[in-house]
Amino acid sequence: MPFKKWITTGLPWVTLKSAYSVDGNMIPPSGKKTFSSNESLLFAHKLRKRADAILTGSGTILKDFPEFTVRLVPDHINKIRWLCILDRRQRVPTEYIEQKKAQGFKVLLSKDYIDALRYLGKQDCLEVLVEAGPTLLKWILESNIWDEHYIIKVKENQDVIEHALRYTL
Ligand SMILES: NC(=O)c1ccc[n+]([C@@H]2O[C@H](COP(=O)([O-])OP(=O)(O)OC[C@H]3O[C@@H](n4cnc5c(N)ncnc54)[C@H](OP(=O)(O)O)[C@@H]3O)[C@@H](O)[C@H]2O)c1
Repeated sequence: MPFKKWITTGLPWVTLKSAYSVDGNMIPPSGKKTFSSNESLLFAHKLRKRADAILTGSGTILKDFPEFTVRLVPDHINKIRWLCILDRRQRVPTEYIEQKKAQGFKVLLSKDYIDALRYLGKQDCLEVLVEAGPTLLKWILESNIWDEHYIIKVKENQDVIEHALRYTL
């Protein structure tokens, strides 16, 4: 389906991934970047492996300075991914951007979600994985410009992963 969408619209397939704590919060406790189980983290890295671009918001960068690398599963050999950061107020430090470029990411800073998707589509990105915080995620969900959503819900014994598909063509 990602190829069909890209070839007919020029836009990449957009997969959203969001994780919620037992009390329904997306924000990890102070000093932590995640609250998901090892199984859920493994799943998240498999989603990253699938993606040609990771898209996030400046709030996530400023709070976590995330790696966004595929570490828990073997990555595709010589895979180069885009890291797209929506940052209208240009708050993301240059040092972080340079670090990501040094790690092999191609970095796209954008002020507009749709413009970013169009640009990534032109760069032959078929799949974009959104790993954003609650602010940008809410905006994207309301825009209806996304194709599938994996919702990781942390439970006492075992995380539950829900899947929503909205792609129509
Ligand atoms: N649980 C999870 O799945 C998960 C995933 C990622 C992050 N997080 C957590 O989320 C927290 C950060 O939350 P956050 O909400 O500040 O991060 P965010 O949603 O990633 O970033 C928000 C920023 O994105 C920018 N932005 C650009 N275009 C936007 C648009 N159309 N709509 C909304 N925002 C847009 C805004 O800054 P400008 O106005 O400057 O553009 C906004 O302040 C961190 O604690 C992180 O750990 C959780």
